[in-house]
Amino acid sequence: MPLFSSCNSVTSTAHPKAGTTVNSDFNADVDIQLKAVQSSINILSTINTDIYSYKGSLIKGDKQTLQQLEGSAIGPIIRVEKGDRVRIRFENEISEKSIIHWHGLHVSHENDGHPEYVIEKGETYIYEFEVMNRAGTYWFHPHPHGHTGEQVYKGLAGLFIVTDEEEKAFNLPTGDYDIPVIIQDRTFDENNQLVYLPNGRMDRMRGFLGNRILINGKMDNSLSLNKDGKYRLRLLNGSNSRAYKLAWNTGEPLTIFGVDGGLLESPKTLPYLILAPAQRVDVWLDLSKKSESEELKLIHLPIPLDNMMGGGMMGIENDSSLPYNSQFDILNINLRDSRKNDAQLPNRLSVSQALDPTDAANRTSPRTFNFGMEGMMKWTINGRTYNGMEVADDEIVKLNTTEVWRMNNGGKISTENQNNGRGMMGNKNGMMRNGRGMENMMQMPHPVHIHQLQFNIINRNTENVDRNLWNAVKDGFIDEGRQDSVYLLPGMYIDLVMRFADFKGLFLFHCHNLEHEDMGMMRNFKIE
Ligand code: C2O
Ligand code: CU
Ligand code: CU
Repeated sequence: MPLFSSCNSVTSTAHPKAGTTVNSDFNADVDIQLKAVQSSINILSTINTDIYSYKGSLIKGDKQTLQQLEGSAIGPIIRVEKGDRVRIRFENEISEKSIIHWHGLHVSHENDGHPEYVIEKGETYIYEFEVMNRAGTYWFHPHPHGHTGEQVYKGLAGLFIVTDEEEKAFNLPTGDYDIPVIIQDRTFDENNQLVYLPNGRMDRMRGFLGNRILINGKMDNSLSLNKDGKYRLRLLNGSNSRAYKLAWNTGEPLTIFGVDGGLLESPKTLPYLILAPAQRVDVWLDLSKKSESEELKLIHLPIPLDNMMGGGMMGIENDSSLPYNSQFDILNINLRDSRKNDAQLPNRLSVSQALDPTDAANRTSPRTFNFGMEGMMKWTINGRTYNGMEVADDEIVKLNTTEVWRMNNGGKISTENQNNGRGMMGNKNGMMRNGRGMENMMQMPHPVHIHQLQFNIINRNTENVDRNLWNAVKDGFIDEGRQDSVYLLPGMYIDLVMRFADFKGLFLFHCHNLEHEDMGMMRNFKIE
């Protein structure tokens, strides 16, 4: 079958020997040993759960640089400043290949955690990079091709929080008032062991969906906060494939002041927020107006996605997962004693982070990537799947240029400005619209992520999105600020403006539904 007929000219690089030495010229401000280990911890009741976990130890740096989350598989939290020179000595002690990717960080190819750099049990990979990103909530997780989903699921994921002068000039909540909230769904069996993809291939096609929510790796999804406190909640959707429609149970709007790539220009209030896998937001929470008797919870509101996510032709039997189209609790806020902090949320936060799309040479004919399905059972990007260091002609860009990329999941693209549509599905004008064919039943959202850079969203086209679905989510998107992950609904395309700066080399872009990624919905792009 000519699945890869579109890859006419392919460049490959020999397997590299990066990450093997500690460079003595690199003067590290922060030096951390980070081990991936197998262990077992008490997550539910009596019987321990087998997990993977990152264990950090600080070789150099302030002691608040590294915070292990006690009693949890996930973490640690690494806190650095922009400009810090960071060395991470990743030691793999799990019995499978792994490598760490720094999600959202602007680093070189050798420091990005490309799957081709996986190391075996007993080996070490040394990362050395300067933190060039602005203040924000970044994160790290494994990236071994084909096994990312399972390794993250078992507990390998942590936060990489950056602060900078711009952020410190504001009086935002710090210390105990700056709280990470990592949201993940999991399923446990009767022996308290994690269950991953029990229905095999069909589960994999859909992506893992669990039947309960863990916050920061724990079953107890409640936070005890000071009544009268003002809080910064740093939300990360660390789930393998599940997106959330988050809202306060009280009906008050959510106030969001930061996204993947840091602070917004000004805070936004939304009735609810759609948080797709890998996305981060900063939520402002002012408890000074709350009474102790009032119940306060972050909840998931129904999204009519189930027939795309397990119904339809997926036909997953014995599906115990939390239905998308239902309401469930995410996080309970318990109020304890009254204590104030003097933090404030200013109306003006950051200076504009908007890249100018008129700088993009290809403004009127965006580089188009179609996220869809090939041969019925293969998730692809422009008809291709991940293949090592392979990069195709239309995946090569020039250093120091700005481009517009169109991420398309069956969106309605007028033919004049479609330059390289490929793939059997998800690219034809209107093909998805009213069809009842197989392709229609295999439409799914794809949370799309680009490595190494932070883009701006300049256009979100929703003409082909099912109206019922769109109406349920349309007020929950933040299209401002710098981001590295976007939620591409079926029938949607999104235009992104981005700049390729500082580093040449191969970087990845992929669907962050980790099961889709593991099945190959991932490609390299090359900056040259
Ligand atoms: Cu969190 Cu390649 O991604
Ligand atoms: Cu990434
Ligand atoms: Cu996907």
